Parts: sequence; C-alpha cells; structure tokens
Amino acid sequence: SAPVITVDGPSGAGKGTISHKLADRLDWGFLDSGALYRVTGQACLIEGVSWDDVDAVTEIARHLDVSFASAANGEVLVAYKGQDVSRAIRTEEGGRGASTVAAIPSVREALLARQRDFRQPPGLVADGRDMGTVVFPDAPLKFFLTASAEERARRRYKQLISKGESVSLPRLLEDIKERDARDSSRSVSPLVPAGDAIVIDSTATSIDQVFDQVMQKVRE
Ligand code: CDP
Repeated sequence: SAPVITVDGPSGAGKGTISHKLADRLDWGFLDSGALYRVTGQACLIEGVSWDDVDAVTEIARHLDVSFASAANGEVLVAYKGQDVSRAIRTEEGGRGASTVAAIPSVREALLARQRDFRQPPGLVADGRDMGTVVFPDAPLKFFLTASAEERARRRYKQLISKGESVSLPRLLEDIKERDARDSSRSVSPLVPAGDAIVIDSTATSIDQVFDQVMQKVRE
C-alpha cells in the first residue's frame, strides 16, 4: 500500500506546520487526525451530547458526517453535516472537547478505519498523537516532534492571538500541561514516540530549521 510518513507529538510542537508543509512539498495527501477528534467534540456540542457520555459520543464518532475541503487561500475547510465548523474546532474549547473524547477507547476505535482510508497513492502525511504507534505502525518513516511546555504555550498564544482570540499565556500553559498529562496518561494510545520514530526537540530551533531536518531524512 501507499507510503505513510507519520508526525506525532504534543500540542504546539509544530506538527501541524511541519506536516502540512511536508505534504505540500511531496504532493501527498494529508491526514489531520486531531481534526477528527475536534469535530467529534464539536458534533457533541451541536447534538446536545455531553463529552462524558461514552455511549452517545461513540455513536457520534461511528457515524461522523465530516468533510474536508481546501479553500482558495489554502486553508482547510472542515464541515460537520455540511455545516462549516473550521473556526469552532480550533478554539481552546474545541481542543478541550477533542482531548476529552479522544480518551474514550471506543471513540478511538470508531475513528480508526476512517483514518486508514486516507492512505492512498502517491502517499500520506499523517499528523497526530498515535499515527506511528497505532494507526500506521508499519509506516516507513516516523517523526516525533516535541518542545518544552513553555515554548509550546508561547507558540499557541501567538497563533490564537493572530486569529483574534483573547487568551492569556499562563492560562494556556496550564491548559497545555493539563492536556499533556491527559494525553500521556490515558490507557489507550498514550502519547509516546514509536520505538522507531525520529525524535526532534524544537524548543530552541525554529520551525523552518525543523522542516529542513525533516526533509533531509525524507530524502535519505
Ligand atoms: O494542536 P493540537 O496538537 O493541540 O491539536 P490536535 O492535533 O488537533 O489534537 C487535539 C486533541 O485531540 C489532542 O489534545 C489529543 O487529545 C487528541 N488527539 C488524539 O488523541 N489522537 C490523535 N491522533 C490526534 C489528536
């Protein structure tokens, strides 16, 4: 089957930027697995389902009517039941919902096949937490991007502020630490690098430099 490059790591480690750029450069498909969890969380809000209601959330994940489309400006439009949720899923609340529903094993199971469907020629860049460990364990090339929580909070802060969200840096740092703890302590697909992943710490490195490192490995 088609080759996959997996890019995993915690929130704000630059995965999104790096993997998008990589998919563009290679002209490969792109899987934003986080968006699937975000849409699941958003769908719960829309359908009036609590994020803690395991059965109802699983049902939503199983029948998730989600679509991705590229806008003219290169941005990705995400729709749930045809309704544009692109902005809503990127808020802090959207992130909280995603990480809450992502901790439910049956939800992860329900989204597994859907994620694997993205694997198509000529290849796929898969962005997430468990791409290299669970979803595409046979991927020939795996990256795990990380950075200190403080640096990741700063990056997230800049990103949200530029989108006009009002956020506080200490609050974001707290959120990131909380999300890290939840993501790495959950029983299914905890956030850990695959044994064969190339780990890149970008605390003191610009995203452009990280991209160069990644491209170098891709060419090898
Ligand atoms: O930008 P950030 O990495 O925070 O967001 P994301 O990649 O969209 O993921 C949002 C949340 O979804 C994360 O906090 C994870 O809890 C969850 N997630 C996951 O469990 N598994 C994935 N493959 C991707 C995301």
